[in-house]
Amino acid sequence: MEPTANNTKFIINGGNPLRGVIKVAGAKNSATKLIVASLLTKDKCIFHNSPNKIKDLQVTTQICSLLGSKIKIGNGTLEIQTKEISNGIIDQELGNSTRIAILLAGPLVHRLGKAEIPIPGGCRIGSRPVNLHIEGLKKLGCNVSMNDTHYVFEADGLKGADIKLDFPSVGATENILIASIFAKGRTIISNAAVEPEIIDLIKFLQKMGAIIEISTDRKIIIEGVKKLYGATHRVIPDRNEAASFACAAIASKGDIIIEDAVQDDLITFLNTIRRVGAEYQVVENGIRFYYKCKLKPIAIETNVHPGFMTDWQQPFAILMTQANGISIIHETVYEKRFGYVEELKKMGAEIELYNNCLGGLPCRFASSQYYHSAVIKGPSKLKGAEINIPDLRAGFSYLIAGIIAEGESVINGAVYIDRGYEDIDIKFRNLGADIRRIH
Ligand code: EPZ
Repeated sequence: MEPTANNTKFIINGGNPLRGVIKVAGAKNSATKLIVASLLTKDKCIFHNSPNKIKDLQVTTQICSLLGSKIKIGNGTLEIQTKEISNGIIDQELGNSTRIAILLAGPLVHRLGKAEIPIPGGCRIGSRPVNLHIEGLKKLGCNVSMNDTHYVFEADGLKGADIKLDFPSVGATENILIASIFAKGRTIISNAAVEPEIIDLIKFLQKMGAIIEISTDRKIIIEGVKKLYGATHRVIPDRNEAASFACAAIASKGDIIIEDAVQDDLITFLNTIRRVGAEYQVVENGIRFYYKCKLKPIAIETNVHPGFMTDWQQPFAILMTQANGISIIHETVYEKRFGYVEELKKMGAEIELYNNCLGGLPCRFASSQYYHSAVIKGPSKLKGAEINIPDLRAGFSYLIAGIIAEGESVINGAVYIDRGYEDIDIKFRNLGADIRRIH
């Protein structure tokens, strides 16, 4: 699951407030799923606003190419056509380097009757099991077995089913949604995830010819169809990139406009920004974020959409190191998403972790030993240090720490950030940060 380490790093001289305009890329957590869904048809599908430089997208296209897809990459566009699938076995190394591979179960079973997909491992943010994916696919009539390295999915046509998820998992919802498009009859996914990236996937599938309803109580209802067609779609802008840059701007006491940031997808984030005493302004083509006065502490709890997203908590934690008082973050989505805190302490951050559920209701990790609550004391004057990135979102938060710290920081592990952010150093430089990428 972890990207191969190399020694590409960022050198940052902190202290410059971020100012200017940047544009967010298309959402990686949508684009990669849309590519998978395109394998449900033999026709050509075209994506605009595709984040083609992001590593996770490149791995996804590599996997599809090996399966038989013909892919044309342009400037922000991606065309994919999968007339034939040569084999349904996903390469182990590629499959293990992304969580997208498991979503190919449905398209491959539909096209070939069989799929062999590497068994995904955990990663630094948690064990990340796929039990809900497997249970869902089994309910649709898929026979699932395992060999030493791969899950083997087999079926001669799927049948609609009632599937209630124990937790509104994004990946399990997507997997069942994609697999059930051709299932005979009706599939109901209860307690489904309804993240904006899932709605984007539903919109694309609708354009392809699917019949999918969303009801207000986390239910997604899919009426099986016989055929899907090619479609053209604009990938939604990346709300996680928008939230990450917003935190960076405010923590640096700056003022930036984030083009393509979408208010609808950031409602909870925007409320939180205002509660801590920072400001935003929705403008014609995006959202302006700016520092206004001393930041106030806050207690937040991460949650599934429409809650405060788990991918926002790391950049937000850096912001909280600059607030005047004690803040609390209760992480309820992943059990190990505070692995990045130790390194930040080297820079002077005052953060303590607890295995209790602080600042909210008990979550599903309440009786575990996982350190999933953080108490952050601010304001801290951060100072430059050499630190190692453990994962994607933590990596972005280290860049923010470097940008607001006094002196030079060396941030090792650019490869993690490149998985999910395009041209990150260039974007930060355009906002006035003193940041260099060293190979
Ligand atoms: C997606 O991961 C995103 N990744 C994550 O972003 C994001 O943090 C997450 O959704 C939550 O919004 C992609 O879209 C590629 P989940 P996913 O299934 O689908 C447990 C990033 O940095 N679970 O909603 O893997 C799981 O262990 C990444 O861009 C089960 O127990 O997330 C976790 O605790 C990181 N069994 C929780 O549910 C299952 O079968 C949420 O996982 C599936 C999940």
